[in-house]
Amino acid sequence: MTAYADFYRRSLDDRDAFWAEQARLIDWQTPPQAVCDWSQPPFARWFSGGTTNLCHNAVDRHLKDRADQPALIYVSSETGEEKVYTFRELHSEVQRAAAMLKALGVRKGDRVLVYMPMIAEAAFTMLACARIGAVHSVVFGGFASVSLASRIEDAQPRLIVSADAGSRAGKVLAYKPLLDEAIRLSSHKPEAVLMVNRGLAPMTMQPGRDHGWTGLGEQHRGAQVPCEWLDAGDISYTIYTSGTTGRPKGVQRDTGGYAVALAASMKHIFAGNAGETYFSTSDIGWVVGHSYIVYGPLIAGMATIMYEGLPIRPDAGIWWSLVEKYKVTVMFSAPTAVRVLRKQDPAFLKKYDLSSLRALFLAGEPLDEPTGRWISDSLGVPIIDNYWQTESGWPILTVANGVEKMPSKFGSPGVPMYGYNVKLLHESTGEELTGANEKGVVVIEGPTPPGFMQTVWRDDERFVNTYWKSIPGKLVYSTFDWGIRDEDGYFYILGRTDDVINVAGHRLGTREIEESISSHPNVAEVAVVGVADALKGQVAMAFVVARDTTALTDDAALLRLEGDIMKQVDGQLGAVARPARVRFVSALPKTRSGKLLRRAIQAVCEGRDAGDLTTIEDPSALQQIRDLLAK
Ligand code: PRX
Repeated sequence: MTAYADFYRRSLDDRDAFWAEQARLIDWQTPPQAVCDWSQPPFARWFSGGTTNLCHNAVDRHLKDRADQPALIYVSSETGEEKVYTFRELHSEVQRAAAMLKALGVRKGDRVLVYMPMIAEAAFTMLACARIGAVHSVVFGGFASVSLASRIEDAQPRLIVSADAGSRAGKVLAYKPLLDEAIRLSSHKPEAVLMVNRGLAPMTMQPGRDHGWTGLGEQHRGAQVPCEWLDAGDISYTIYTSGTTGRPKGVQRDTGGYAVALAASMKHIFAGNAGETYFSTSDIGWVVGHSYIVYGPLIAGMATIMYEGLPIRPDAGIWWSLVEKYKVTVMFSAPTAVRVLRKQDPAFLKKYDLSSLRALFLAGEPLDEPTGRWISDSLGVPIIDNYWQTESGWPILTVANGVEKMPSKFGSPGVPMYGYNVKLLHESTGEELTGANEKGVVVIEGPTPPGFMQTVWRDDERFVNTYWKSIPGKLVYSTFDWGIRDEDGYFYILGRTDDVINVAGHRLGTREIEESISSHPNVAEVAVVGVADALKGQVAMAFVVARDTTALTDDAALLRLEGDIMKQVDGQLGAVARPARVRFVSALPKTRSGKLLRRAIQAVCEGRDAGDLTTIEDPSALQQIRDLLAK
């Protein structure tokens, strides 16, 4: 058996011994008494009896050996700010933030909603929450008021931390009005709001509720706030993600299992060493930002770069200049970003000394072969595709080069990672597919490994019913992704089985977009589907039946309504959710029982065969879409 095959087998066959060993990668205040408790499936409990703290492991633990080494490197190509915080400085900033949270009434178990751009204060806030045992819930800064309101409603935060504005491509996006509107829309009201003022957009502060970061911070300069020792199973955070229904799910994560999972992945998958620099180009609003901008690299004692801006501003060399300047050894990005860079002058890649870089990890969406080959040839380092989900918290499929150097195959993220018992099942019979190249649903047999979601926040039933009961007769976790496995055991991911789409690596629910569009006064019906796109992987396409067509007499009128609907989606959900096009039809293709035939619409949009249409009520509805697209 090869080294990795053996490592993998041990993780499943000798599970407790394997994970007990991994648990030694972090500091515990009280060592765990048990490793895995799978007595109440599908709820896996890891490291019971142990107490630890994520912030201690990410920050305090490193003061002994590397207090004056860089910990957080903040770079904004939007504002020109660049600041390096050493572990000592980070320790002091995080304690100050923790003191502010406490002063605003936040206690262990309270939720703190974080709605912030990529600024250092966002990382301070997350770590401060972890320090005092508060549960952070970071909402992507690109989301707008309605998305934000539904998350406030569900998380019920005592405090919201935000900033005056984010900035993208030099355009200021004011957050405070969106936040105020979201709080107005939500039936839950936070007791306090803490605002960072970057001086980018004016803010109207609500007396009694709103506080300024700088002013309050002044009062807590030099504060010392010790880490709260938390049970391994205490919640570290929730993060919302999209699924089949419009209502986003709060993915809930533990403390001990997550810390161990990240420490293990930094060693076995990312092969990053303390004292080096890690650069993930994601955003703290996504799971990659949680695991591999904030917690993972810091737990490993690495400096982490937090970057606000685009990959091509001021020019397409910006990321590579950071690799050279900070001697980045491990980099993490998304295929979309690489496709964007590929369209730029390749000279930018040659301009900088990239000799420190050992590997580039790409995740979040399928990595197509031309993109993979281009970046591989350009950088001359391994390009490591890795497949995972918000729910898993760390890679499910990839190669573990820290255990054994394994070949990568273009188009495949790789093999199951240690701890994940990955299977392919037949979608309706639940039968296991063991042959090569058979297409099935990618599932994970429990117990799910450390770091995996514990449950859906405040909704165990939804956790069980959504994720564990979708395949008839089997209690297995469904990823809702199609996949196949080749003769060598390498997996290929073939897209979602549900209504989730992936736009430029951003996971969006088509139902959420449909709900937003439906609330427009002139929309009677709408279908949103994901359509393949050369740059973004997928884009959302909307087909709308208008309520009142009397004014829709020419193309200009249609374009006006299209723009109007797009503006509404921007304002409610955020520009990330805006459909690429909104097209108007007189009817939508449905089954005789009234179910929308989204898959048929998607196929037609992608120029494929629409598949089995025996149940379609009115074939002319699909023909209308074909004709529209042909025009
Ligand atoms: O469909 C898969 C796709 O993105 C989904 C998860 O998205 P999210 O929850 O935002 O987590 C991203 C964490 C990296 C998956 O269900 N996906 C993610 N990575 C890949 C991928 N599809 C193909 N290849 C990948 N490497």
